[in-house]
Amino acid sequence: MGRAKITIVGAGNVGATTAHWCAAAELGDIVLVDIPATEKMPMGKALDLMQSSPIMGFDSTVTGATSYDATANSDVVVITAGIPRKPGMSRDDLLATNARIVSSVAEQVKATSPNAVVIVVSNPLDAMVQRAFQVTGFPAARVIGQAGVLDTARYRTFLAMELGVSVEDISALLMGGHGDTMVPLPSYTSVGGIPITKLIAPERLAQIVQRTRDGGAEIVSLLKTGSAYYAPAAATAQMVEAIVRDKKRVIPVAAYCDREYGVGGYYVGVPVVLGAAGVERIIELELTESERADFQKSVDAVKGLVKTMGELMAK
Ligand code: NAI
Ligand code: 2OP
Repeated sequence: MGRAKITIVGAGNVGATTAHWCAAAELGDIVLVDIPATEKMPMGKALDLMQSSPIMGFDSTVTGATSYDATANSDVVVITAGIPRKPGMSRDDLLATNARIVSSVAEQVKATSPNAVVIVVSNPLDAMVQRAFQVTGFPAARVIGQAGVLDTARYRTFLAMELGVSVEDISALLMGGHGDTMVPLPSYTSVGGIPITKLIAPERLAQIVQRTRDGGAEIVSLLKTGSAYYAPAAATAQMVEAIVRDKKRVIPVAAYCDREYGVGGYYVGVPVVLGAAGVERIIELELTESERADFQKSVDAVKGLVKTMGELMAK
């Protein structure tokens, strides 16, 4: 079997770091694309990454490009193109600019890689993935968004820090949109099989849940010049791996939910089985009344975002 072909659109912080993780794990040959205005920047980052291969010991090729010719027939396309958050900006402030950018990228992907699984990362995530789905016209299973793996990783990190235990032993789930209304689920969180509620008092757990919700903003306020990229890129690479290695990972992704959870045709974070075909199954869980109410609040926030995007795109 040949190597997978992975295109990453947007050679900025998240895109280039995703290329780094994907190359280091030999997930496939990588094409890093950015706009012509960046001149030869993607070529420079690609060559730099290639030159790390003899040291790191990977055989993936990394190519830079400012057009889509080199991306033709990719198996996976990751879209990180856009502008990131600046201090004081909400993800939603990015809506109009990034909706235009993601639309133009999705047109190109549709024309050049018609069979790809598309992973959207650009923010505001839940609206951008909906936009990519609308513009590509690809089956919903092949257009997904990265948010839940990152948000869950933040939650797991904070829990491991709190308990002084290995992050590997923390298993957790988080649902809903990639915004202030995301829904970490303590009832689906355990440490080496022990329910989290047996180890951390409810008030402290509530603080950790809130820190998770604010996780992106916390990094923005520290960096000052942009938003997080190491963990977002690692999360994205994990999704690429699940697809190119057909791993059937059970992870939360922004998936198109119609009847599922009664969402009615929007992208929201839900647990799925992720493999070569993209979303192979959405797992429907029983939620408690309060979890369901929190999830609904998050779905309503996503719906509001998509509505605003529609209004902005119609102008
Ligand atoms: P960045 O500014 O470092 O990189 C973005 C790159 O996109 C730039 O190099 C820019 O030239 C490029 N770009 C702009 N328009 C383009 C187009 N039409 N075609 C190709 N490339 C284009 O930003 P960073 O930090 O890499 O973030 C990228 C996006 O990812 C932002 O929207 C950010 O908010 C989002 N993000 C999402 C996360 C998630 O969990 N879903 C986590 C972290 C970031
Ligand atoms: C994050 O959560 C900004 O969405 C990005 O870090």
